[in-house]
Amino acid sequence: MQGLIEVGSLTRDLAASAAMAVEDELDWEHLPHVHRSTFRAASLIHADRDGWDAEVELVDGTPMRMKVTVDPDRRGYTNATYSAGAENGRAVARFEETGTETCRITLRFFIPEGSGFPVEAAGAFYRDLFTRILDEDEPKMVHRAAAVKAGPAGRKARRTAQLPDGSVVAVPNLCPHQGLPLDCEPDASGLMTCPWHGYQFDARTGACVKGKARGWTD
Ligand code: FES
Ligand SMILES: [Fe+2]
Repeated sequence: MQGLIEVGSLTRDLAASAAMAVEDELDWEHLPHVHRSTFRAASLIHADRDGWDAEVELVDGTPMRMKVTVDPDRRGYTNATYSAGAENGRAVARFEETGTETCRITLRFFIPEGSGFPVEAAGAFYRDLFTRILDEDEPKMVHRAAAVKAGPAGRKARRTAQLPDGSVVAVPNLCPHQGLPLDCEPDASGLMTCPWHGYQFDARTGACVKGKARGWTD
């Protein structure tokens, strides 16, 4: 990797398969929701099964371009960030299966040569950042694996939720989008905002009013 220097690495065991971890990395939409402590917004430029390219905004307002490329063997990925057209950092991940539903991720971190950032500080920054990101991702991967295993039948369970007028409606336990827990209540307008990707559903009708999912009554 010409022009980049390695500043550190992180190895961690995950309670999810490598395939699930790759699926999570391909899921650009969760950044401002699951990783709301890091990202304020993400606006997609392009996505396909091998990666994506988006304009992202950090919580402090810093704009950045982020490009994710999954390795051809689907056992790793590269996540590169760019500022004003120039690459400013890169994380390179590889996965090793440690069981049928567990894996070990090893991340290596790089910054541009001659950037002026002290190597140790840059390495510590990336280790802290990716430790937090993986802490936030792991429950999502676990829920997603359970949703895939349960299939459509797993999405039938209902609970009650209260509307602003005091009436009670039946809403699904799992979000119609990816089958992750719909852990939210109707707001003053009767809308439920799923915490995983921010899709919104009208609790009265079950219709998806923001996002690209079917509602639960469609
Ligand atoms: S699981 Fe994606 S918006 Fe709910
Ligand atoms: Fe994530």
